[in-house]
Amino acid sequence: MVEWPEAFSAEGVSRPHIAFEIKFWLNLLVSIRAGKNTQPYSTNNALMIEINSLTFAYPHTSPLFENFTLNISRGETWAILGPSGCGKTTLLYLLAGLRQPSAGEIKIDGELLTRPRPHSGLILQDYGLLPWSTVRENVDLGLRVRKFYGPDGTHTPENYLPKQNVEHWLERLGIREVAGKFPSQISGGQRQRTAIARTLALEPDLLLMDEPFSSLDALTREDLQNLTLSLCAEQNLTLVIVTHSIEEAAALGKKVLLLGGAPNQTPKVFENPNAGQAGHRSSQEYHELCNSLWEEMQTPSPQPTLNERGSTQ
Ligand SMILES: Nc1ncnc2c1ncn2[C@@H]1O[C@H](COP(=O)(O)OP(=O)(O)O)[C@@H](O)[C@H]1O
Ligand SMILES: [Mg+2]
Repeated sequence: MVEWPEAFSAEGVSRPHIAFEIKFWLNLLVSIRAGKNTQPYSTNNALMIEINSLTFAYPHTSPLFENFTLNISRGETWAILGPSGCGKTTLLYLLAGLRQPSAGEIKIDGELLTRPRPHSGLILQDYGLLPWSTVRENVDLGLRVRKFYGPDGTHTPENYLPKQNVEHWLERLGIREVAGKFPSQISGGQRQRTAIARTLALEPDLLLMDEPFSSLDALTREDLQNLTLSLCAEQNLTLVIVTHSIEEAAALGKKVLLLGGAPNQTPKVFENPNAGQAGHRSSQEYHELCNSLWEEMQTPSPQPTLNERGSTQ
């Protein structure tokens, strides 16, 4: 068995998430190599995400999603909220192309999603940094993968050329001073900034985040939440952020999708148009939304009848 070096076992660096992160980058590399996802970097499709009649179940379990349909427009900011185990991470992995629907389909930017696409950025719960690489090397990772093939129009779309902009993103995320350090030597907030810098260096059009701020202290969390929103607005990104925190969903999502007990069938969506604007967190609208979400989460989901239950298994 390969020994896990002590320096890599530092708090906040989790092996399962690193494994998933490596899988994500390898999948991305395979998809680039296969010449898939080479469609031009389109900006004229108003719909960024189309989830059509999605059904998904892990093997030998009843479905988490059943005949679930939802559209997300380009440039929107969505929060996916729900209690632990309701399927938030699963939905994000489906949107990332890391899991495939049992039935139905997902389209991103008009294209059927069959594997991770180069234009989607994914940030996992524990940052997914490579512990053996410095902050600068971590930020550069995706670009190095792309550079390996080059913008040849076959493996990477010609009009999608991420610049060699590592220094820009180190600066923009405020981590230039720690660029030579390893993930175990920096704070949780700096790790998250590194993960965001690495993803934005690839100039994605869609950013998927799984509970990205849950392990940060309150001040760092709010700081990074605000920075993420302003970067998404600046880059015209579509943002889908998973959280189990009602306050975070109400602070960040202009639309909040509330998931509940399986199977999730009809999406419950709450409008929150002023999310991200100055003063929103202290507004009456914010507090009312928090209350509505809290009440809704206390309401038990209707149980399927025996017939319905039979048909779902
Ligand atoms: N690989 C897997 N195999 C089987 N069941 C899984 C797997 N991953 C997650 N689950 C189950 O699916 C449900 C939803 O998981 P998940 O999407 O991680 O929930 P959430 O992110 O909302 O906490 C949970 O009951 C979890 O135990
Ligand atoms: Mg989760």
